[in-house]
Amino acid sequence: MKYIVTGALPYANGKLHIGHVAGAYLPADIFVRFLRLNHEDVIFICGTDEHGTPISIQADAEGVSPQVIVDRYHKLIEDAFSGINIDFDNFSGTARPPHYRLSQEFFLNLYNKGHISSKETLQFYCEHDGRFLADRYVEGVCPNCGASGARGDQCDACGQIYDTITLKEPKCKLCGNRPVIKNTRHWFLNLEGFTNQMKEWLGHKDYWKENVRNFMLNLLQLGLVERSITRDIKWGIPVPLEEAKDKVLYVWFEAPIGYISSTIEWAEKIGQPERWKDYWFDPDTRLIHFIGKDNIIFHALTWPAVLM
Ligand code: MF3
Ligand code: ZN
Repeated sequence: MKYIVTGALPYANGKLHIGHVAGAYLPADIFVRFLRLNHEDVIFICGTDEHGTPISIQADAEGVSPQVIVDRYHKLIEDAFSGINIDFDNFSGTARPPHYRLSQEFFLNLYNKGHISSKETLQFYCEHDGRFLADRYVEGVCPNCGASGARGDQCDACGQIYDTITLKEPKCKLCGNRPVIKNTRHWFLNLEGFTNQMKEWLGHKDYWKENVRNFMLNLLQLGLVERSITRDIKWGIPVPLEEAKDKVLYVWFEAPIGYISSTIEWAEKIGQPERWKDYWFDPDTRLIHFIGKDNIIFHALTWPAVLM
């Protein structure tokens, strides 16, 4: 049996802390050591998550470019892992060119198979800052659970994702003003089409933690809907379509693809460039993700749908 074990790619926007280690990486490390003691064939994959508003907000705050932030924290995080003796087989980063190419390839494949379509949407726009307020650039009250401090793309209190403009009492993260609503085109992944496959797949996940399973069963109950996978921000991977010139891929669309691009990087480093396929293309490989609880929806719904 082959295993791909991954640790959620930490955002390269701050230092590694004890919460990261206790939550995702130490359990992953223990599991990998256990498998190896049992002579299992396992690769342990990680890297930093280098796009999206977590990075650009930090860059704005310090008045430097996002790449400066990424380079600084990638190194600090990598060193922190080696300092506590957590040894990944490869530790990559999602701002590297091979990851760009692979993510764009994923997008185009899904697009050509009809799983992605575009439409005009309404988004928060800050007239003071002259920009669309994607994801963490806007905060307000969660439309699902009523918690404050919910962001444009997700509420950390209940883990739900929702349509940004349903956020209540929205405020621009940069200037504190109330944004207006403006039109802009975005590209959506149609998850509804994966309902049956998801149901079937989830049916076998009786070894998942109960909260994860219940979260997912509830989502299926509510019905899967399309999710926007593009953003109006500058820092990110360009959407590979002529008509989407100024848009980038949503970080949660491309970051999980980093598990594959990091494995490809590993295969190249060991001088066996095709070796990653032995893991990712073998139907008997067990793919095990160690994550934080705010990562559930992306690892148990959107990423599996993309892989399907
Ligand atoms: N950067 C995310 C976080 O810290 C985790 C990304 S996991 C990946 O919450 F799958 F997207 F890579
Ligand atoms: Zn909530």
